[in-house]
Amino acid sequence: MTSADVTSDGRARVLADGGTLPMLGLGVWQVPDGAACVNAVRWALELGYRHIDTAQAYGNEESVGRALRESGVPREDVFITTKFYPGRRDPVAEAEQSLRRLGVEQVDLYLVHWPQRGPTWAWPGMERARERGLARSIGVSNFSAADLDQVTRAGTVVPAVNQVQFSPFWYRRALLDACARLGVAAEAYSPLGTGRHLSDKIVRKVAERAGRTPAQVLLRWCLQRGIPVIPKSTHRERIEENARIFDFDLSAADMAELDGLDRTKGTDRALERGWW
Ligand code: A2P
Repeated sequence: MTSADVTSDGRARVLADGGTLPMLGLGVWQVPDGAACVNAVRWALELGYRHIDTAQAYGNEESVGRALRESGVPREDVFITTKFYPGRRDPVAEAEQSLRRLGVEQVDLYLVHWPQRGPTWAWPGMERARERGLARSIGVSNFSAADLDQVTRAGTVVPAVNQVQFSPFWYRRALLDACARLGVAAEAYSPLGTGRHLSDKIVRKVAERAGRTPAQVLLRWCLQRGIPVIPKSTHRERIEENARIFDFDLSAADMAELDGLDRTKGTDRALERGWW
């Protein structure tokens, strides 16, 4: 990561393929399909979010599409990510289904959701999906440094993004270094530790010092490390709170204190335990 990788207004990460990924998005993992998801996405769009992150495995792409249409925000103003479910075989066929459910002609980013059955087999299909215009950018999620090395060597296009659990508790420095070396933008899912990191003593102390909330401090830590974030919430006031992260800075001392929370020992792995 260099400062040139983030746009001058600090709002977007420049991708190696020329795309730009907004630094803040709404994640909808574990948001049930239907009213809960439609409302969360509509509120986010009303509150200025321009980036929504979904996946085939979440089962809520239709709700995301519906909220996008109902919001009245032009399609071209919103960055949409979905993810190939690697229990299936064909990323092109699955992308076509995602586009139909979302009601859009192209997604902005299409990720291999996790490296099930190895990190390389799905990549040719991902490249075909991009060539056919189904996705503007393609990338991966939950890939370790070794997985990234393999897919980079095997493919024609380097993954634009690797979306992984990042937070001060999951700093994964060696994985961030690998991403930087290969030109892959690291993106943070579960930046609040699925809510668990919000009650940590150090996080609360830094928040008090900064005059901000624990959620804002955790998200700001990622921004200052150049890592886009996709916090999830189904509550309007929290969605709003999580967006107020561009108008303050954490000091070097605050950042260092948060860095010290890392439990991964600076790992180059994406996960402490696999689930596939
Ligand atoms: P809810 O959806 O009920 O608002 P992560 O993004 O790391 O996965 O964390 C998501 C979890 O954190 C969800 O349980 C969400 O609850 C909760 N959450 C999101 N934003 C906030 C916030 N600003 N304050 C407190 N809890 C939050």
